[in-house]
Amino acid sequence: MSLIKITIDNQTIEVEPGTTILQAARMIGPGVTPPAMCYYSTLETSGGYCRTCLVKVSKGSEKDPRPMPKLVASCRTPVMDGMEVQNYTSEEVKDVRKAVTEFLLINHPIDCPICDQAGECHLQDLSYDRGKSQSRYDYEKRTFDEIDIGPTIKLNMNRCILCYRCVKVADQLTPQRVHGVMNRGWDSEISTYIEGAVNNNFSGNMIDVCPVGALTDRTFRFKSRVWFLKPYDAHRDCPDCAGKAVIWKFGNDIYRVTGRKDQWGEVAEWICNTCRFEKKDLSDWIEEGPRKIDRHSVISQNHYLKGTQFVASPEALPAKELK
Ligand code: SF4
Ligand code: FES
Repeated sequence: MSLIKITIDNQTIEVEPGTTILQAARMIGPGVTPPAMCYYSTLETSGGYCRTCLVKVSKGSEKDPRPMPKLVASCRTPVMDGMEVQNYTSEEVKDVRKAVTEFLLINHPIDCPICDQAGECHLQDLSYDRGKSQSRYDYEKRTFDEIDIGPTIKLNMNRCILCYRCVKVADQLTPQRVHGVMNRGWDSEISTYIEGAVNNNFSGNMIDVCPVGALTDRTFRFKSRVWFLKPYDAHRDCPDCAGKAVIWKFGNDIYRVTGRKDQWGEVAEWICNTCRFEKKDLSDWIEEGPRKIDRHSVISQNHYLKGTQFVASPEALPAKELK
């Protein structure tokens, strides 16, 4: 299969046909990669909901070099041979990303000081990097009561950005889907039928894929801020999953267990609920060593090892780290 050439922010790469602009950007590196709040590489049909990944196609292809008339969602647009794309080099893209961030925050409460996702929230990073310091929205925000989705997951619908990732996890990882997005438009909400429990052994992965604090771990809520904990790679023999996880410790206590995320914030291997919620004793796990946290966020500060960093934009990095 012959490769096709694409240039993103003046950097050229050859990729296989069918690759999307976002995937090609990830192959080049974080410096040219748009943020993605709904796309998740391991979840089929994800992407196309949040618009944070919009980019400008300044040259369609070698055959038809006309620019595309509107910004396109990079997670859903396949590359064409000779395509040229502007991301951080386009003022228009920067402006639109600011507007998209403002839209995402219209109904989202600014409750980071009490939200368990603070420090590892993609919307927090995006708004810090691209947001406005004040909201222009004068109307009442839509609000919902918190509900328990089963014994281990809390849903705070006020924070949901309707990215559909959790719905796709429930659809694609579990044999029986009992939750989804109910209603349309303003009234859309994540819900289970008559608030029935999502009780299958992989439902906890919904927490890991949620880019904001809408789905949180009831066994961990309000126990500690994530940046006070030390993450370690650890594994165990598990009959239901690969048993490869991150244990988050304070001293010798395990406060929470999560999947291992890559530099894009995506879980590499799903873990089962037994590993996530029930194995909180050090003797349950074989430690491999401190975890690299590949994010440019509060969570990467202080004691964490630094790896390749996810950045919402290169401007988010201090000048010395850009070299
Ligand atoms: S609850 Fe989280 S993962 Fe589910 S749609 Fe809302 S923001 Fe996305
Ligand atoms: S990541 Fe592309 S639209 Fe959400």
